[in-house]
Amino acid sequence: MYKDSFPFFKHQENPYHYLDSAATTQKPQSVISAIEDYYLKYNANPHSSAAAQELLDQSRIKTAEFLHAEKQGVVFTKNATEGLNIIAHALSGRLGSQDEILVTELEHHSNFLPWQAIASQTGAKLVIAKTDKFGDLVTDDWLSKLNQKTKIVALSAVSNVTGSANDLNMLIKEAHRKNCLVVIDAAQATGHQLINVHQLDCDFLAFSGHKMYGPLGVGILYIRPEIAKELNPLYLGGGMVGIVSDNNSSWALPPERFEAGTIDSAAVFGLTKAIDFIKSIGIETIIQHESKLINLAKERLSKHPEITLYSSARSKTGQSVLSFNLNSVHPHDLAFVLNQKGIIVRSGDHCAQPLMKALGIPGTVRLSVGIYNEPEDIQSLDGAVSEAIDLFANRKTTFS
Ligand code: ALA
Repeated sequence: MYKDSFPFFKHQENPYHYLDSAATTQKPQSVISAIEDYYLKYNANPHSSAAAQELLDQSRIKTAEFLHAEKQGVVFTKNATEGLNIIAHALSGRLGSQDEILVTELEHHSNFLPWQAIASQTGAKLVIAKTDKFGDLVTDDWLSKLNQKTKIVALSAVSNVTGSANDLNMLIKEAHRKNCLVVIDAAQATGHQLINVHQLDCDFLAFSGHKMYGPLGVGILYIRPEIAKELNPLYLGGGMVGIVSDNNSSWALPPERFEAGTIDSAAVFGLTKAIDFIKSIGIETIIQHESKLINLAKERLSKHPEITLYSSARSKTGQSVLSFNLNSVHPHDLAFVLNQKGIIVRSGDHCAQPLMKALGIPGTVRLSVGIYNEPEDIQSLDGAVSEAIDLFANRKTTFS
């Protein structure tokens, strides 16, 4: 019934089964209308219009409430990737050759490459905690790699490949006991589980609006306000300065310090409507709805001996992502066949090559659900997988 709120599904000539919400969600009418409303009623540069500035301020307050954060801790970015790069740059000045950055094998490249680059620039060591055969973080390995040299811990809330959710409360507490700064990539968690930065006690958290029913082009970076004042911006330009003089300049206070240039206020306004949409359904309802669908997918797909599931062994609820392969058929080939049968899934390494290496595979086919999916989408996927199994039987396609 939630599907009715999403015009996308009424505009397809051949309605298909959209199972790729981890890549980007469809948008409810309220979000689409907000973009139009913005340009019809509010458009002006917040740097020069009090009304446009007020709209941005109200949007910041609403976003802060959603995250249980202080307003000053909310930075508008383009997406999670940009937020993580801003933080990696800002923390680079605190690192030296004796220091370590702890990441995990299950990180998306967005929460891996910025830390690898900063490690190489500063001489710090990038330490990578292991995952097991399900793609779950091996907690003991992670704990054994956390030590007095660790200065930064960068961690996904939820894997974009297996849906594995990390025990953030425990991991963040342990990291803080070693005085580390903690960066959370929440791209696959926001809109699927409660995000409360106060309760988590993380120092930084980044996500994208477009994966939580919001528009493309807006993301959020939470920075703990006490730390933000000590950090340098990555982007320099309009709106983020204090005094500019010939040879040196000072920066505005956060959050504006990290928001050089003109913000995409229309997308920000759209994001607030996505927040309203999520709140109107309730995060518990979303969790229950998505868990039922993922559990159904696990049940149906695991009946095929030809299918290997790559799914968290931990998450019983709160999972919205699931990966699989069909024997040694390349995931791109399988996804192509599923696509032809109207099933939209993603295939490949999912920007998570370290995890693929750990699992010993080139990629997976990934299904991911949103509030608009129904059991029928999973049943159709299962039917298409059955047909693909027949199609690929006896064919020599291999990735080994
Ligand atoms: N990061 C997005 C995904 O995992 C694109 O699909």
